[in-house]
Amino acid sequence: MKIARFSRIGFILAAAGSAVGLGNIWKFPYITGEYGGGAFVLVYLITVALIGFSIMIAEMLIGYLGRKDGVTSFENLAPKNKHLWKFGGFQGLAGLFIMIFYSVVIGWIFHYIVTSLSYLPASVAEAEQTFTTMLHTDITTQLFYHTLAFLWITYVLTRGIKGGIEKMNLILMPTLILILSGMFLYSLSLDAFGKAVDFMFTPNWSKLTSEAFVTSVGHAFFTLSLGMGAILTYSASMEKNSNLVKNAFWVVFLDTSIAIVAGLMLFTFLYQYGAGPAKGPGLVFISLPATFYEMGIIGNIFAVLFFVALAFAGLTSSVSLVEPMVQYFIDRFSWSRLKASIYMGLFFYLIGIIALLSNVDDYQKLLTWGGKNFFDWVDYVTAAIMLPLGGLIMAIFVGFVIEKSRVESVLKPQLGKFFEVWYFSLRYITPIAMFIVMLSLLGVL
Ligand code: PFF
Repeated sequence: MKIARFSRIGFILAAAGSAVGLGNIWKFPYITGEYGGGAFVLVYLITVALIGFSIMIAEMLIGYLGRKDGVTSFENLAPKNKHLWKFGGFQGLAGLFIMIFYSVVIGWIFHYIVTSLSYLPASVAEAEQTFTTMLHTDITTQLFYHTLAFLWITYVLTRGIKGGIEKMNLILMPTLILILSGMFLYSLSLDAFGKAVDFMFTPNWSKLTSEAFVTSVGHAFFTLSLGMGAILTYSASMEKNSNLVKNAFWVVFLDTSIAIVAGLMLFTFLYQYGAGPAKGPGLVFISLPATFYEMGIIGNIFAVLFFVALAFAGLTSSVSLVEPMVQYFIDRFSWSRLKASIYMGLFFYLIGIIALLSNVDDYQKLLTWGGKNFFDWVDYVTAAIMLPLGGLIMAIFVGFVIEKSRVESVLKPQLGKFFEVWYFSLRYITPIAMFIVMLSLLGVL
Protein backbone atom coordinates (compact mmCIF):
# COMPACT_ATOMS: atom_id res chain seq x y z
CA MET A 1 0.00 0.00 0.00
CA LYS A 2 1.30 3.44 -0.87
CA ILE A 3 1.76 5.55 2.25
CA ALA A 4 0.18 8.99 2.03
CA ARG A 5 2.72 11.72 2.75
CA PHE A 6 2.43 15.46 2.93
CA SER A 7 3.94 17.51 0.11
CA ARG A 8 6.56 19.96 1.39
CA ILE A 9 4.23 22.94 1.33
CA GLY A 10 1.42 20.71 2.59
CA PHE A 11 3.46 19.80 5.63
CA ILE A 12 4.44 23.37 6.42
CA LEU A 13 0.87 24.61 6.09
CA ALA A 14 -0.54 21.71 8.10
CA ALA A 15 1.98 22.17 10.91
CA ALA A 16 1.50 25.93 10.80
CA GLY A 17 -2.26 25.30 10.73
CA SER A 18 -1.87 23.31 13.90
CA ALA A 19 0.21 26.03 15.52
CA VAL A 20 -1.86 29.02 14.43
CA GLY A 21 -5.02 28.58 16.42
CA LEU A 22 -7.25 30.15 18.98
CA GLY A 23 -4.12 30.56 21.08
CA ASN A 24 -2.68 33.13 18.69
CA ILE A 25 -5.70 35.30 18.27
CA TRP A 26 -7.64 34.64 21.42
CA LYS A 27 -4.94 34.23 24.04
CA PHE A 28 -1.79 36.02 22.90
CA PRO A 29 -3.23 39.55 22.77
CA TYR A 30 -4.82 39.36 26.18
CA ILE A 31 -1.85 37.90 27.99
CA THR A 32 0.27 40.56 26.32
CA GLY A 33 -2.13 43.10 27.76
CA GLU A 34 -1.96 41.56 31.18
CA TYR A 35 1.82 41.38 31.47
CA GLY A 36 2.95 44.76 30.31
CA GLY A 37 2.86 44.76 26.51
CA GLY A 38 6.33 45.17 25.00
CA ALA A 39 8.25 43.65 27.89
CA PHE A 40 6.18 40.51 27.65
CA VAL A 41 6.46 40.37 23.86
CA LEU A 42 10.23 40.51 24.20
CA VAL A 43 10.37 37.70 26.75
CA TYR A 44 7.97 35.72 24.63
CA LEU A 45 10.10 36.11 21.49
CA ILE A 46 13.19 34.96 23.37
CA THR A 47 11.30 31.97 24.76
CA VAL A 48 10.09 31.01 21.31
CA ALA A 49 13.55 31.32 19.81
CA LEU A 50 15.39 29.47 22.59
CA ILE A 51 12.95 26.87 23.80
CA GLY A 52 10.08 26.64 21.30
CA PHE A 53 12.26 26.31 18.23
CA SER A 54 14.53 23.69 19.89
CA ILE A 55 11.65 21.49 20.96
CA MET A 56 9.91 21.90 17.62
CA ILE A 57 12.98 20.40 15.92
CA ALA A 58 13.16 17.62 18.53
CA GLU A 59 9.49 16.72 18.22
CA MET A 60 9.71 16.70 14.44
CA LEU A 61 12.73 14.42 14.68
CA ILE A 62 10.87 11.81 16.76
CA GLY A 63 8.08 11.60 14.19
CA TYR A 64 10.41 11.78 11.19
CA LEU A 65 12.61 8.94 12.44
CA GLY A 66 9.85 6.94 14.13
CA ARG A 67 7.49 7.06 11.14
CA LYS A 68 4.50 5.93 13.19
CA ASP A 69 2.03 7.13 15.81
CA GLY A 70 3.61 8.66 18.94
CA VAL A 71 3.62 5.52 21.07
CA THR A 72 5.18 3.35 18.37
CA SER A 73 7.67 6.04 17.41
CA PHE A 74 8.92 6.37 20.98
CA GLU A 75 9.07 2.59 21.24
CA ASN A 76 10.96 2.24 17.95
CA LEU A 77 13.52 4.88 18.83
CA ALA A 78 14.33 4.04 22.46
CA PRO A 79 17.47 1.88 22.47
CA LYS A 80 16.34 0.22 25.71
CA ASN A 81 13.44 0.32 28.20
CA LYS A 82 11.09 0.55 25.26
CA HIS A 83 8.07 -0.41 27.34
CA LEU A 84 8.64 2.62 29.55
CA TRP A 85 9.48 5.15 26.88
CA LYS A 86 6.45 4.28 24.85
CA PHE A 87 4.42 6.19 27.44
CA GLY A 88 5.94 9.36 26.01
CA GLY A 89 3.60 8.78 23.08
CA PHE A 90 0.52 8.83 25.25
CA GLN A 91 0.87 12.57 25.27
CA GLY A 92 -1.53 12.32 22.34
CA LEU A 93 -4.26 12.06 24.93
CA ALA A 94 -3.61 15.66 25.92
CA GLY A 95 -4.74 16.78 22.47
CA LEU A 96 -7.99 14.93 22.84
CA PHE A 97 -8.51 16.53 26.24
CA ILE A 98 -7.84 20.01 24.87
CA MET A 99 -10.48 19.33 22.23
CA ILE A 100 -13.07 18.98 24.97
CA PHE A 101 -13.14 22.76 25.42
CA TYR A 102 -11.60 23.78 22.09
CA SER A 103 -14.59 22.44 20.21
CA VAL A 104 -17.00 24.33 22.46
CA VAL A 105 -15.11 27.56 21.77
CA ILE A 106 -15.15 26.91 18.02
CA GLY A 107 -18.90 26.50 18.44
CA TRP A 108 -19.13 30.01 19.95
CA ILE A 109 -17.14 31.34 17.01
CA PHE A 110 -19.52 29.72 14.50
CA HIS A 111 -22.38 31.34 16.36
CA TYR A 112 -20.69 34.73 16.20
CA ILE A 113 -20.11 34.39 12.45
CA VAL A 114 -23.82 33.95 11.96
CA THR A 115 -25.03 36.64 14.36
CA SER A 116 -22.46 39.24 13.23
CA LEU A 117 -24.09 39.25 9.80
CA SER A 118 -27.03 41.13 11.18
CA TYR A 119 -26.32 42.16 14.77
CA LEU A 120 -23.51 43.77 16.71
CA PRO A 121 -23.80 44.96 20.31
CA ALA A 122 -23.95 48.74 20.70
CA SER A 123 -21.75 48.88 23.81
CA VAL A 124 -19.29 46.80 25.79
CA ALA A 125 -21.95 46.30 28.46
CA GLU A 126 -24.41 45.00 25.91
CA ALA A 127 -21.73 42.78 24.39
CA GLU A 128 -20.98 41.34 27.78
CA GLN A 129 -24.64 40.70 28.39
CA THR A 130 -24.99 38.93 25.03
CA PHE A 131 -21.95 36.75 25.62
CA THR A 132 -22.73 35.78 29.19
CA THR A 133 -26.35 35.02 28.33
CA MET A 134 -25.17 32.59 25.67
CA LEU A 135 -22.56 31.10 27.99
CA HIS A 136 -24.70 30.71 31.09
CA THR A 137 -28.16 30.00 29.74
CA ASP A 138 -28.28 29.06 26.08
CA ILE A 139 -27.63 25.33 25.86
CA THR A 140 -29.36 24.82 22.51
CA THR A 141 -27.24 27.30 20.58
CA GLN A 142 -23.98 26.13 22.10
CA LEU A 143 -24.87 22.49 21.55
CA PHE A 144 -25.88 23.09 17.96
CA TYR A 145 -22.59 24.73 17.04
CA HIS A 146 -20.50 22.34 19.10
CA THR A 147 -22.13 19.54 17.07
CA LEU A 148 -21.27 21.33 13.84
CA ALA A 149 -17.63 21.66 14.91
CA PHE A 150 -17.54 17.97 15.83
CA LEU A 151 -18.98 16.93 12.45
CA TRP A 152 -16.58 19.12 10.46
CA ILE A 153 -13.46 18.00 12.35
CA THR A 154 -14.40 14.33 12.32
CA TYR A 155 -15.20 14.40 8.62
CA VAL A 156 -11.80 15.87 7.75
CA LEU A 157 -10.07 13.24 9.90
CA THR A 158 -11.88 10.40 8.14
CA ARG A 159 -10.44 11.67 4.83
CA GLY A 160 -6.86 11.14 6.01
CA ILE A 161 -3.56 12.96 5.72
CA LYS A 162 -3.67 13.88 2.03
CA GLY A 163 -7.34 14.15 1.13
CA GLY A 164 -8.41 15.57 4.49
CA ILE A 165 -5.80 17.33 6.57
CA GLU A 166 -3.50 18.57 3.80
CA LYS A 167 -6.35 19.60 1.54
CA MET A 168 -8.13 21.54 4.27
CA ASN A 169 -4.95 23.36 5.29
CA LEU A 170 -4.09 24.21 1.68
CA ILE A 171 -7.39 26.06 1.43
CA LEU A 172 -7.99 27.42 4.91
CA MET A 173 -4.51 28.66 5.80
CA PRO A 174 -3.98 30.94 2.78
CA THR A 175 -7.53 32.26 3.24
CA LEU A 176 -6.82 32.97 6.89
CA ILE A 177 -3.59 34.79 6.02
CA LEU A 178 -5.40 36.79 3.35
CA ILE A 179 -8.19 37.89 5.69
CA LEU A 180 -5.82 38.87 8.48
CA SER A 181 -3.51 40.72 6.07
CA GLY A 182 -6.43 42.67 4.62
CA MET A 183 -7.66 43.70 8.05
CA PHE A 184 -4.13 44.49 9.15
CA LEU A 185 -3.64 46.80 6.16
CA TYR A 186 -6.84 48.60 7.09
CA SER A 187 -5.65 49.00 10.68
CA LEU A 188 -2.47 50.62 9.33
CA SER A 189 -4.59 53.46 8.04
CA LEU A 190 -6.08 54.25 11.45
CA ASP A 191 -4.59 56.81 13.87
CA ALA A 192 -4.49 54.37 16.74
CA PHE A 193 -2.00 52.09 14.95
CA GLY A 194 0.91 53.96 16.53
CA LYS A 195 -0.60 53.44 19.94
CA ALA A 196 -0.93 49.73 19.30
CA VAL A 197 2.73 49.56 18.23
CA ASP A 198 3.70 51.43 21.37
CA PHE A 199 1.69 49.10 23.50
CA MET A 200 3.11 45.95 21.96
CA PHE A 201 6.71 47.03 21.64
CA THR A 202 7.42 49.57 24.37
CA PRO A 203 8.35 47.60 27.46
CA ASN A 204 6.66 48.24 30.79
CA TRP A 205 9.16 46.39 32.97
CA SER A 206 7.20 46.83 36.18
CA LYS A 207 4.49 44.44 35.03
CA LEU A 208 6.99 41.78 34.10
CA THR A 209 6.60 39.46 37.08
CA SER A 210 8.05 35.97 37.37
CA GLU A 211 4.58 34.80 36.51
CA ALA A 212 5.01 36.47 33.16
CA PHE A 213 8.01 34.23 32.39
CA VAL A 214 6.04 31.14 33.25
CA THR A 215 3.08 32.28 31.20
CA SER A 216 5.39 32.99 28.32
CA VAL A 217 6.89 29.48 28.29
CA GLY A 218 3.48 27.88 28.77
CA HIS A 219 2.02 29.91 25.96
CA ALA A 220 4.95 29.21 23.63
CA PHE A 221 4.22 25.51 24.04
CA PHE A 222 0.52 25.85 23.54
CA THR A 223 0.72 28.11 20.53
CA LEU A 224 3.43 26.08 18.79
CA SER A 225 1.43 22.88 19.43
CA LEU A 226 4.36 21.30 21.22
CA GLY A 227 4.53 18.49 23.73
CA MET A 228 1.50 16.49 22.78
CA GLY A 229 2.41 14.65 19.65
CA ALA A 230 0.58 16.75 17.08
CA ILE A 231 3.76 17.90 15.37
CA LEU A 232 5.24 14.42 15.93
CA THR A 233 2.32 12.70 14.23
CA TYR A 234 2.37 15.06 11.24
CA SER A 235 6.13 14.64 10.96
CA ALA A 236 5.71 10.88 10.59
CA SER A 237 4.15 11.71 7.22
CA MET A 238 6.85 14.16 6.15
CA GLU A 239 8.55 13.46 2.80
CA LYS A 240 11.86 11.60 2.98
CA ASN A 241 14.92 13.88 2.94
CA SER A 242 13.00 16.83 4.32
CA ASN A 243 14.84 19.64 6.00
CA LEU A 244 13.45 19.61 9.54
CA VAL A 245 15.20 22.78 10.59
CA LYS A 246 13.78 24.77 7.69
CA ASN A 247 10.32 23.32 8.27
CA ALA A 248 10.48 24.12 11.98
CA PHE A 249 11.65 27.62 11.17
CA TRP A 250 8.70 28.25 8.86
CA VAL A 251 6.19 26.97 11.36
CA VAL A 252 7.61 29.07 14.19
CA PHE A 253 7.92 32.10 11.93
CA LEU A 254 4.35 31.88 10.64
CA ASP A 255 2.92 31.28 14.09
CA THR A 256 4.77 34.18 15.66
CA SER A 257 4.14 36.65 12.87
CA ILE A 258 0.45 35.84 12.77
CA ALA A 259 0.19 36.34 16.53
CA ILE A 260 1.90 39.73 16.30
CA VAL A 261 -0.06 40.90 13.27
CA ALA A 262 -3.32 39.82 14.90
CA GLY A 263 -2.32 41.55 18.13
CA LEU A 264 -1.42 44.83 16.42
CA MET A 265 -4.61 44.81 14.43
CA LEU A 266 -6.84 44.04 17.42
CA PHE A 267 -5.22 46.66 19.65
CA THR A 268 -5.50 49.26 16.89
CA PHE A 269 -9.22 48.61 16.62
CA LEU A 270 -9.67 48.57 20.37
CA TYR A 271 -7.77 51.83 20.87
CA GLN A 272 -9.37 53.55 17.92
CA TYR A 273 -12.86 52.79 19.09
CA GLY A 274 -12.29 53.16 22.76
CA ALA A 275 -12.58 49.69 24.29
CA GLY A 276 -8.96 49.52 25.54
CA PRO A 277 -6.65 46.52 25.60
CA ALA A 278 -6.71 44.32 28.70
CA LYS A 279 -10.12 42.74 28.85
CA GLY A 280 -9.34 39.13 29.72
CA PRO A 281 -10.61 36.27 27.57
CA GLY A 282 -13.68 38.33 26.78
CA LEU A 283 -11.52 40.40 24.42
CA VAL A 284 -12.63 38.50 21.36
CA PHE A 285 -16.23 37.86 22.35
CA ILE A 286 -16.99 41.07 24.23
CA SER A 287 -14.70 44.01 23.45
CA LEU A 288 -14.28 43.24 19.78
CA PRO A 289 -17.93 42.92 18.78
CA ALA A 290 -18.62 46.24 20.49
CA THR A 291 -15.67 47.73 18.63
CA PHE A 292 -16.89 46.42 15.29
CA TYR A 293 -20.24 48.06 16.02
CA GLU A 294 -18.54 51.45 16.25
CA MET A 295 -17.11 50.99 12.75
CA GLY A 296 -20.55 51.09 11.14
CA ILE A 297 -21.40 48.83 8.22
CA ILE A 298 -17.77 47.93 7.50
CA GLY A 299 -17.76 46.64 11.08
CA ASN A 300 -20.27 43.93 10.19
CA ILE A 301 -18.13 42.81 7.28
CA PHE A 302 -15.01 42.88 9.45
CA ALA A 303 -16.72 41.01 12.25
CA VAL A 304 -17.82 38.21 9.94
CA LEU A 305 -14.41 38.00 8.27
CA PHE A 306 -12.64 38.06 11.60
CA PHE A 307 -14.72 35.26 13.07
CA VAL A 308 -14.34 33.24 9.87
CA ALA A 309 -10.55 33.60 10.17
CA LEU A 310 -10.74 32.62 13.82
CA ALA A 311 -12.86 29.58 12.99
CA PHE A 312 -10.38 28.52 10.31
CA ALA A 313 -7.49 28.90 12.75
CA GLY A 314 -9.37 26.79 15.27
CA LEU A 315 -10.41 24.07 12.85
CA THR A 316 -6.94 23.52 11.42
CA SER A 317 -5.61 23.20 14.97
CA SER A 318 -8.42 20.87 15.98
CA VAL A 319 -7.65 18.19 13.44
CA SER A 320 -4.07 18.13 14.68
CA LEU A 321 -5.26 17.75 18.26
CA VAL A 322 -7.22 14.62 17.43
CA GLU A 323 -4.99 13.07 14.77
CA PRO A 324 -2.36 11.65 17.20
CA MET A 325 -4.93 9.37 18.86
CA VAL A 326 -6.54 8.51 15.52
CA GLN A 327 -3.12 7.45 14.22
CA TYR A 328 -2.51 5.53 17.43
CA PHE A 329 -5.57 3.35 16.99
CA ILE A 330 -4.79 2.84 13.31
CA ASP A 331 -1.18 1.79 13.93
CA ARG A 332 -1.57 -0.19 17.16
CA PHE A 333 -4.98 -1.75 16.82
CA SER A 334 -5.37 -1.83 13.03
CA TRP A 335 -8.59 0.15 13.24
CA SER A 336 -9.82 1.64 10.00
CA ARG A 337 -9.37 5.42 9.75
CA LEU A 338 -13.13 5.81 9.64
CA LYS A 339 -13.64 3.95 12.89
CA ALA A 340 -10.74 5.66 14.67
CA SER A 341 -11.90 9.13 13.60
CA ILE A 342 -15.50 8.57 14.64
CA TYR A 343 -14.59 7.13 18.04
CA MET A 344 -12.13 9.90 18.84
CA GLY A 345 -14.59 12.49 17.57
CA LEU A 346 -17.34 11.10 19.77
CA PHE A 347 -15.00 11.17 22.75
CA PHE A 348 -14.34 14.90 22.63
CA TYR A 349 -17.88 15.65 21.49
CA LEU A 350 -19.62 13.89 24.36
CA ILE A 351 -17.27 15.05 27.09
CA GLY A 352 -17.33 18.49 25.46
CA ILE A 353 -21.05 18.58 26.26
CA ILE A 354 -20.18 18.25 29.96
CA ALA A 355 -17.68 21.12 29.59
CA LEU A 356 -20.36 23.17 27.87
CA LEU A 357 -22.89 22.44 30.62
CA SER A 358 -20.39 23.33 33.32
CA ASN A 359 -20.70 26.99 32.22
CA VAL A 360 -24.49 26.88 32.30
CA ASP A 361 -26.17 28.27 35.43
CA ASP A 362 -28.36 25.24 36.09
CA TYR A 363 -25.45 22.79 36.05
CA GLN A 364 -22.53 24.90 37.13
CA LYS A 365 -22.71 23.94 40.81
CA LEU A 366 -22.85 20.27 40.02
CA LEU A 367 -19.83 20.51 37.74
CA THR A 368 -17.58 22.72 39.84
CA TRP A 369 -14.93 21.47 42.22
CA GLY A 370 -12.31 23.44 44.12
CA GLY A 371 -13.30 26.75 42.62
CA LYS A 372 -12.99 25.64 39.00
CA ASN A 373 -15.71 24.28 36.79
CA PHE A 374 -15.11 21.29 34.52
CA PHE A 375 -14.34 23.50 31.53
CA ASP A 376 -11.60 25.36 33.42
CA TRP A 377 -10.23 22.18 34.95
CA VAL A 378 -9.63 20.64 31.54
CA ASP A 379 -7.90 23.82 30.41
CA TYR A 380 -5.78 23.91 33.58
CA VAL A 381 -4.75 20.25 33.65
CA THR A 382 -3.73 20.21 30.00
CA ALA A 383 -1.86 23.53 30.12
CA ALA A 384 -0.27 23.15 33.56
CA ILE A 385 0.59 19.46 33.61
CA MET A 386 0.25 17.60 30.36
CA LEU A 387 1.86 20.09 28.00
CA PRO A 388 5.00 20.95 29.96
CA LEU A 389 5.37 17.30 30.91
CA GLY A 390 5.20 16.31 27.25
CA GLY A 391 7.83 18.91 26.38
CA LEU A 392 10.05 17.71 29.17
CA ILE A 393 9.78 14.08 28.07
CA MET A 394 10.54 14.95 24.47
CA ALA A 395 13.55 17.09 25.34
CA ILE A 396 15.00 14.34 27.54
CA PHE A 397 14.21 11.65 25.02
CA VAL A 398 15.96 13.36 22.11
CA GLY A 399 18.68 14.90 24.32
CA PHE A 400 19.64 11.83 26.34
CA VAL A 401 17.95 8.67 25.14
CA ILE A 402 18.19 8.46 21.37
CA GLU A 403 21.84 7.85 20.40
CA LYS A 404 23.59 11.10 19.62
CA SER A 405 24.97 9.66 16.39
CA ARG A 406 21.44 9.06 15.17
CA VAL A 407 20.32 12.58 16.00
CA GLU A 408 23.47 13.97 14.44
CA SER A 409 23.06 12.03 11.22
CA VAL A 410 19.85 13.90 10.46
CA LEU A 411 20.40 17.26 12.08
CA LYS A 412 24.13 17.98 11.78
CA PRO A 413 23.96 18.60 8.04
CA GLN A 414 20.94 20.84 8.58
CA LEU A 415 22.10 22.79 11.62
CA GLY A 416 25.81 22.93 10.80
CA LYS A 417 27.81 24.55 13.57
CA PHE A 418 24.63 25.33 15.50
CA PHE A 419 24.07 21.66 16.15
CA GLU A 420 25.93 21.71 19.46
CA VAL A 421 24.14 24.86 20.61
CA TRP A 422 20.80 23.26 19.86
CA TYR A 423 21.78 19.99 21.53
CA PHE A 424 22.96 21.79 24.64
CA SER A 425 19.79 23.86 24.89
CA LEU A 426 17.67 20.74 24.47
CA ARG A 427 19.55 18.83 27.14
CA TYR A 428 19.88 21.50 29.78
CA ILE A 429 18.04 24.78 29.20
CA THR A 430 14.72 23.36 28.05
CA PRO A 431 14.24 20.66 30.70
CA ILE A 432 15.04 23.08 33.51
CA ALA A 433 12.69 25.70 32.10
CA MET A 434 9.92 23.13 31.68
CA PHE A 435 10.39 21.87 35.18
CA ILE A 436 10.14 25.34 36.67
CA VAL A 437 7.06 26.08 34.60
CA MET A 438 5.36 22.93 35.79
CA LEU A 439 6.09 23.54 39.43
CA SER A 440 4.95 27.09 39.22
CA LEU A 441 1.74 26.31 37.34
CA LEU A 442 0.99 23.67 39.93
CA GLY A 443 1.42 26.30 42.60
CA VAL A 444 4.48 24.68 44.18
CA LEU A 445 6.78 27.61 43.47
N1 PFF B 1 -1.52 25.73 18.77
C1 PFF B 1 -2.94 25.80 18.96
C2 PFF B 1 -3.33 27.21 19.32
O1 PFF B 1 -2.46 28.10 19.40
O2 PFF B 1 -4.51 27.46 19.51
C3 PFF B 1 -3.44 24.85 19.99
C4 PFF B 1 -2.86 23.49 19.91
C5 PFF B 1 -3.03 22.72 18.75
C6 PFF B 1 -2.12 23.00 20.96
C7 PFF B 1 -2.45 21.47 18.66
C8 PFF B 1 -1.54 21.76 20.87
C9 PFF B 1 -1.70 21.01 19.73
F1 PFF B 1 -1.16 19.83 19.67
